[in-house]
Amino acid sequence: MKILFVASECAPFVKTGGLADVIGAVPKALAPLGVDARVMLPVYPALQALAAKGKEVWTSDDLHGGPARVLSCQAEGLDLLLLDAPHLFDRPGNIYLGADGQDWPDNAQRFGALSFVAAEVAAGGLTDWRPDVVHAHDWQAGLVPAYLRQKNGPVPPTVLTIHNIAFQGLFDPSLMTSLGLSSAHYTPEGMEYFGRIGFLKAGLAFADKITTVSPTYARELMQPEFGMGLEGLLRARNADLTGILNGIDLDAWNPETDAALVAPYSVRSPKKKASNRAEVLKRFDLEAEGSGPLFCVISRLTTQKGLDLLLEALPMLVTRGAKLAVLGSGEKDLEAGFMAAARSHPGAVGVIIGYDEPLSHLMQGGSDAILIPSRFEPCGLTQLYGLRYGTLPVVARTGGLADTVIDANEAARSAKCATGVQFAPVTAPALEQAILRTCDLFDQPSEWAAMMRRAMRHPVGWDVSAQAYKDIYASLLDARTLQD
Ligand code: ADP
Ligand code: GLC
Repeated sequence: MKILFVASECAPFVKTGGLADVIGAVPKALAPLGVDARVMLPVYPALQALAAKGKEVWTSDDLHGGPARVLSCQAEGLDLLLLDAPHLFDRPGNIYLGADGQDWPDNAQRFGALSFVAAEVAAGGLTDWRPDVVHAHDWQAGLVPAYLRQKNGPVPPTVLTIHNIAFQGLFDPSLMTSLGLSSAHYTPEGMEYFGRIGFLKAGLAFADKITTVSPTYARELMQPEFGMGLEGLLRARNADLTGILNGIDLDAWNPETDAALVAPYSVRSPKKKASNRAEVLKRFDLEAEGSGPLFCVISRLTTQKGLDLLLEALPMLVTRGAKLAVLGSGEKDLEAGFMAAARSHPGAVGVIIGYDEPLSHLMQGGSDAILIPSRFEPCGLTQLYGLRYGTLPVVARTGGLADTVIDANEAARSAKCATGVQFAPVTAPALEQAILRTCDLFDQPSEWAAMMRRAMRHPVGWDVSAQAYKDIYASLLDARTLQD
């Protein structure tokens, strides 16, 4: 079975969030199941050296104003199809934003081009490889099913995965023609979203199957509070919508072998975590003394992640004797809020503004608990890393957070199945209560140690979910065979 993945990021090559982790991991998890998955993604500067070694398999003289080609290569256990179009992707800095912090003004052309070329490849554009199914991810690949609809002749069926419905790829309708999109598709049932072209909406309207990254988010998406205007369409397509929980790459995130830790450890030697903890305290200028837990945050600093609520709860966290280490970047007021909190609570709150992959591993290895107070969270990966590293997740009861953490309530504690703390509603007082509950648990060392062991044994790999994706691909192929 041959599957074409289409996405805008892929770890370890280029990453702004969890999408990259998923795209870098799923093809590897599908390989042992007999699935030949290839990932198409753009050649940003970080990928140029790799692309230079690739084999040219497709070319165009003019893709939105410049030449383009597709290069086939292998790296990090992945088969890649790299879309090299320097006029669209050879730019410094963030892959979505210019230096001014605004979206690149030609993002419609950039990711429209990615989807267009993916559709060309899917419809037989390569001489030696033709996918049976195309699996598009998020708005950046949302137009793939629309372009395939416009083709005469046989095209493969499509799956669209929603990683985050808050990012929809909305553009001016005057671009329909230059993007090569049929005006017949610009309808409320198609890709029109309140007077604009919706790239994600196009994918949701025209893909054969839709998935999202947790069962709870799949249900939430059909509600107005979470569906962001697409809840009606998703309700109409309920029969084709499945929630498949994300996993994590167990090799990249393994406390026994993680090169970013000062002391690797396992479920049999959790006490070694102490050396990593000491290193985190040092890196964040936190006091070594004190008996409370060390909480961490590793996150985009955005409204989605609910970190304004943490700013409100911080005085209580510090008063209770806990410490906090924050690594993240994003909205300027949140960055400023956390910097101010570090100044107000020297030794108890440490903040590093930025993006630092090795430091994020060290923090998972050295913290006692990880805080994730998201207002919505399609899946979330940092709580899964937390479980694997025995860093107990303290999470809002929403989306994938609700599906992956077992709250330490009385029933779960007596049944010996708790792995963390959940709270609802997603408000500052409820978060404060969750922090207090966590501190109380931390004061009971044997209870805490048992939770750590349980968390570290909790299955967080891709096995079950990779099989679920394969089943969806197989069902699409079976449906085609029946039609023929
Ligand atoms: P989202 O994709 O919504 O940002 P996820 O929890 O799915 O949330 O994934 C976030 C990913 O990005 C995780 O791998 C996390 O470790 C990583 N990450 C987030 N912020 C930072 C940061 N400042 N430095 C390093 N890694 C980060
Ligand atoms: C999105 C979501 C996050 C999810 C990730 C990978 O960025 O915000 O919850 O884990 O995609 O699917």
